[in-house]
Amino acid sequence: MAAARGGRRRRPWSSSSSCGSPFLMMLISCLLWLHREAAPSLAADTVTVGRPLSGGQVLVSRGGKFALGFFQPDNSSQRWYMGIWYNKIPDHTKVWVANRGAPLSDPDTSRLAISADGNMVLLDRARSPVWSTNVTTGVAANSTVGVILDTGNLVLADASNTSVVLWQSFDHFGDTWLPGGRLGRNKLTGEVTRLVGWKGYDDPTPGMFSLELDPGGASQYVMSWNGSSRLYWSSGNWTGGMFSSVPEMMASNADPLSLYTFNYVDGENESYFFYDVKGEVVLTRFVVDVTGQIKFMTWVDSAAQWVLFWSEPKAQCDVYSICGAFGVCAEDALPACSCLRGFHARQPRRWLQGDHTAGCARSTALQCGGGSGAQPAAQKTKSDRFFVMPNVNLPTDGVTAASASARDCELACLGNCSCTAYSYNGSCSLWHDDLISLRDTTGAGNGGGRSISIRLAASEFSGNGNTKKLIIGLVVAGVAAAVILAVVVTVLVRRSRRLKALRRVEGSLTAFTYRDLQVATKSFSEKLGGGAFGSVFKGSLPADGTPVAVKKLEGVRQGEKQFRAEVSTIGTIQHVNLIRLLGFCTERTRRLLVYEHMPNGSLDRHLFGHGGGVLSWEARYQIALGVARGLDYLHEKCRDCIIHCDIKPENILLDDAFAAKVADFGLAKLMGRDFSRVLTTMRGTVGYLAPEWITGTAITTKADVFSYGMMLFEIISGRRNVEQGQDGAVDFFPATAARLLFDGDLKGAVDGRLAGNADMGEVERACKVACWCVQDSEATRPSMGMVVQVLEGLVDVNAPPMPRSFKVLGDPSNYVKFFSALPSIS
Ligand SMILES: *[C@@H]1O[C@H](CO)[C@@H](O)[C@H](O)[C@H]1NC(C)=O
Ligand SMILES: *[C@@H]1O[C@H](CO)[C@@H](O)[C@H](O)[C@H]1NC(C)=O
Ligand SMILES: *[C@@H]1O[C@H](CO)[C@@H](O)[C@H](O)[C@H]1NC(C)=O
Ligand SMILES: *[C@@H]1O[C@H](CO)[C@@H](O)[C@H](O)[C@H]1NC(C)=O
Ligand SMILES: *[C@@H]1O[C@H](CO)[C@@H](O)[C@H](O)[C@H]1NC(C)=O
Ligand SMILES: *[C@@H]1O[C@H](CO)[C@@H](O)[C@H](O)[C@H]1NC(C)=O
Ligand SMILES: *[C@@H]1O[C@H](CO)[C@@H](O)[C@H](O)[C@H]1NC(C)=O
Ligand SMILES: *[C@@H]1O[C@H](CO)[C@@H](O)[C@H](O)[C@H]1NC(C)=O
Ligand SMILES: *[C@@H]1O[C@H](CO)[C@@H](O)[C@H](O)[C@H]1NC(C)=O
Repeated sequence: MAAARGGRRRRPWSSSSSCGSPFLMMLISCLLWLHREAAPSLAADTVTVGRPLSGGQVLVSRGGKFALGFFQPDNSSQRWYMGIWYNKIPDHTKVWVANRGAPLSDPDTSRLAISADGNMVLLDRARSPVWSTNVTTGVAANSTVGVILDTGNLVLADASNTSVVLWQSFDHFGDTWLPGGRLGRNKLTGEVTRLVGWKGYDDPTPGMFSLELDPGGASQYVMSWNGSSRLYWSSGNWTGGMFSSVPEMMASNADPLSLYTFNYVDGENESYFFYDVKGEVVLTRFVVDVTGQIKFMTWVDSAAQWVLFWSEPKAQCDVYSICGAFGVCAEDALPACSCLRGFHARQPRRWLQGDHTAGCARSTALQCGGGSGAQPAAQKTKSDRFFVMPNVNLPTDGVTAASASARDCELACLGNCSCTAYSYNGSCSLWHDDLISLRDTTGAGNGGGRSISIRLAASEFSGNGNTKKLIIGLVVAGVAAAVILAVVVTVLVRRSRRLKALRRVEGSLTAFTYRDLQVATKSFSEKLGGGAFGSVFKGSLPADGTPVAVKKLEGVRQGEKQFRAEVSTIGTIQHVNLIRLLGFCTERTRRLLVYEHMPNGSLDRHLFGHGGGVLSWEARYQIALGVARGLDYLHEKCRDCIIHCDIKPENILLDDAFAAKVADFGLAKLMGRDFSRVLTTMRGTVGYLAPEWITGTAITTKADVFSYGMMLFEIISGRRNVEQGQDGAVDFFPATAARLLFDGDLKGAVDGRLAGNADMGEVERACKVACWCVQDSEATRPSMGMVVQVLEGLVDVNAPPMPRSFKVLGDPSNYVKFFSALPSIS
């Protein structure tokens, strides 16, 4: 598409056809031949009366996507299940299980068959059914067949016409909701389809957490614990375009890049929600996880794992009873659950695997109520003692007792063997039996919450009741000593850390202490901005008053050593169009970065801000060029190629001369694996994300090129690409610009506030570049180096093709990209 000035042809960006075709053809024919060779002569996706499924046999759906057979969720036990899994991905993720609660002991003697009454049944060694479709009556066995479809749906169908479905697994979900399935309620029969999570990662038995349409009849989805006994999350009612508590659906309603269609149908006979994926390549699933959260995931080949795009409830501790009985949930701890003092994990192996729902067991039995059922003997109950835990959100199921004092409250609890805890704040609350959903608020910053006294056997406390005073004395002395020691150690460690830090970091980076930065920013008082990765504060270095921007990173789980390594790499990158990193701070879990401060703030304020000046066309063009040069440097000229991953106007800063500087590069590496999750779920980012973020193919520098193109459109128009007019109609500017480009009249594309003061030659060049940058296929997009050359006018540019995704906007169906933007992380 590009030709150098002076007639020398350049290789077109769009050329993908010339790419080694003979070899490719050969490869394809090879694969086809292999495929034919491997294909069995009979339909291998069907169970018939004459061909049951047994032992290691596996049925594979026609397109090869799903497989049906016996499997074992863990190797250590003799528990076998009949289930459906993804056939093409290495970890064979299960999507459905027939005999969830009734494992078989031996697959060789068990079979999935068509019974005499035409039902599909799973028979054990004794030929008795452990599971059945249980629908047909009185038809002949040979008139039905079971078929595994390429959607992951297992159907019982009429043998003479498999389009006639008598039963389907899509009406009987397990923990997974696949595209095409309907999650809802039949209003005539009252039957509901619900997702029920597995009990443990190695146990498909229905667990405690489920998702279903509100049994109360409202048009919302709810997550509940133990049937419907406790609801802990709801989507809010359907308002036509979204569920009211899932506003990200509305934000993405107009997203032309959406690969998903979501809709809620409230019909005469049934209400249901369904979703579908455009294009066959993407594997997605909705699953009620063992963690009690609903998760929407996409398979990412390059990472060989499922990547989370969206989940609810966001806070792990909002899931009811996630840590089980006598567990404590702390949102910012890893793992979130721990056992109360005096308790240990009831199922240690599961606990280590991240499944905490079994909760904790008492290490030492209480004097009374310890399972013996003995009534309290006044003498003995005195031996039980209480451990005070401060800063907790109390479970809501306490009962109030009339007590005049804390001591009375304690006695009231001691007086009943089933009482396990009390809390007194002027009124006395008692808890009986299991203590569920206790939440530690220490780390939450507010320090709020109450204290609760947990009943423990006396032997859990060292010594016994008679030496209470002595113990208190010792404790006081011990605490004092510990505090003094801690202070001394902290001072020493800080000093040595500081010295080490200064020594270890090469180049010009300074290692700051947290205290330094607190002083520099006046205790983080002046906030410049914030995003999903943390907030930015203004400050000035005490030494020379240099203005700086201090970024407090959130959610960095990287260890200190790795963090330092990454930071020193970023510190070596210097370019006139890249923000300079001046220093950093890493203390315990705190991670901060110190950057040069840009007096004119970020580009979005100048493009979309109301009031104030309007950026001239010349300034805009120079900014576009500057960003392109900065990115080109990151992509091509650094020692290690850096993909920015988050190019948007908010991340372009302007210096006092309005020269552009790219901020936040290298964050992707600092954040590690969490980055893509946060990025793809962050509000305000989605419009800039290349399709490969969503399809799950590998992310290359071309993802930045895409985001750059989207931003370039905004630089031209001076407004956001997606805007909803007063009439509710959605306007997608890039599509408009592309149309104007084809019509050869770009005047309407330029920001009206410029009143026509723009070099139309430059406008056309910028529009063409932007349009090339946002092509669906990475191979078709130019490199940043090429973009620089075109914008500099060194290279001519051909008319770009219309990106496929631009056409999608014409699609009248009400599609929603569910996960495209989480509500801002609050
Ligand atoms: C079970 O064993 C197979 C092969 O021996 C192995 O590939 C698989 O990872 C094991 N699964 C578990 C859960 O240990
Ligand atoms: C089949 O359904 C009936 C009621 O519809 C129920 O009583 C019976 O237990 C079911 N049988 C099996 C094997 O699930
Ligand atoms: C089904 O079985 C019955 C008796 O076993 C036989 O008469 C009939 O022809 C069979 N039908 C088919 C379609 O095979
Ligand atoms: C199979 O059943 C479907 C749905 O009932 C019907 O539309 C189709 O015509 C049938 N095909 C044949 C071959 O009978
Ligand atoms: C949702 O709709 C139901 C009736 O359909 C209504 O009773 C309920 O108040 C609504 N909930 C909210 C939060 O508006
Ligand atoms: C779950 O609910 C059932 C009744 O619906 C009840 O019998 C059972 O005890 C509950 N389980 C727990 C752990 O509370
Ligand atoms: C609902 O069910 C009734 C009775 O089965 C049927 O007559 C009607 O057509 C159904 N409505 C829809 C929209 O399917
Ligand atoms: C202990 O408390 C439970 C729950 O409030 C109550 O049901 C039970 O009767 C009490 N037991 C005694 C001995 O007071
Ligand atoms: C004590 O706690 C209860 C519930 O936890 C609350 O309703 C009450 O207002 C509190 N009383 C005081 C004096 O804080």
